[in-house]
Amino acid sequence: MSDAVEPIRWKGKSLELLDQRLLPGKVSYVKCTTAAQVAKAIKDMVVRGAPAIGCAAAFGVVLGKGSASSFEILSKSRPTAVNLFWALNRMRKAKDLEAEAKAIFDEDLAGNRAMGKLGATLIPEGARVMTHCNTGALATAGYGTALGVIRASKSKIKGVIANETRPYLQGARLTAWELVQEGIPCTLITDNMAGHLMSRGEVDVIVVGADRIAANGDTANKIGTYSLAVLAKRHGIPFYVVAPRSTFDLKIPSGKEIPIEERPGDEVTGHRGVRWAPRGIKVRNPAFDVTPAELITGIVCEKAVVLAPTKEKLAKLF
Ligand code: MRU
Repeated sequence: MSDAVEPIRWKGKSLELLDQRLLPGKVSYVKCTTAAQVAKAIKDMVVRGAPAIGCAAAFGVVLGKGSASSFEILSKSRPTAVNLFWALNRMRKAKDLEAEAKAIFDEDLAGNRAMGKLGATLIPEGARVMTHCNTGALATAGYGTALGVIRASKSKIKGVIANETRPYLQGARLTAWELVQEGIPCTLITDNMAGHLMSRGEVDVIVVGADRIAANGDTANKIGTYSLAVLAKRHGIPFYVVAPRSTFDLKIPSGKEIPIEERPGDEVTGHRGVRWAPRGIKVRNPAFDVTPAELITGIVCEKAVVLAPTKEKLAKLF
């Protein structure tokens, strides 16, 4: 599929974003005609996923005609996914804004297909593949990163175990939706079931995406990823990160320097107007965590697979 789901539609004078807040119940698009509207759509999670945020921001700059204020407002939309800042930097240097935004989009799609092919070589025949959050067509220009590897392995895997991904439910709402549409066998679990399945030998490999990879390979990804990596180590299960080079931030030496977004508490105390926690309770809601490089079996990017990532090996990709 990938081509059936169109999260980002550039229309020349406007940007249409599939409203991911309403999925899987409703397919509807938010139309943006200004950079401020695109920034708001990113902040409000209409569009999410590191590469998709970068692509949307690039078109946001086109709508803002490259004004300083368009860069300013878009750079403040979300802090963790470095693809946003990477795309804005490219746009700052571009002579033809629209051509550059389209190139960012097209390169992302091509990169995802390349990662799919490369990553599929790591997936064993008959594997039960666990994934976290949503890294599919919805999170990118199309096809997906970790979910792209799963797509490319469709004919040989036994099935996918999709973690629900509390609190925002990207796994339950978005990954499950993409996989059901594509006819890839998928079982949904809540995040706290992952360790149990691993301990019973029901998980063969784990593939996740990334929001920012530091120079040493430490990787920020959706909250819950770090726990999965620790569990994977405990159970001897290969743990792969799949991300394009636009997700690497070689300027920061380690994961300690990655800014972690804290989101509103109401994502934890309830969902879509239903509240289950008492009023007055204190809440934490960090949206991402950092997995140290030592827990990562390999990083797949569009150029190569880097096993046991180190600063030296990752530097060679650039
Ligand atoms: O908060 P989100 O939904 O934007 O977080 C998304 C993730 O953490 C993804 O795993 C990551 O961006 C990679 S998407 C290809």
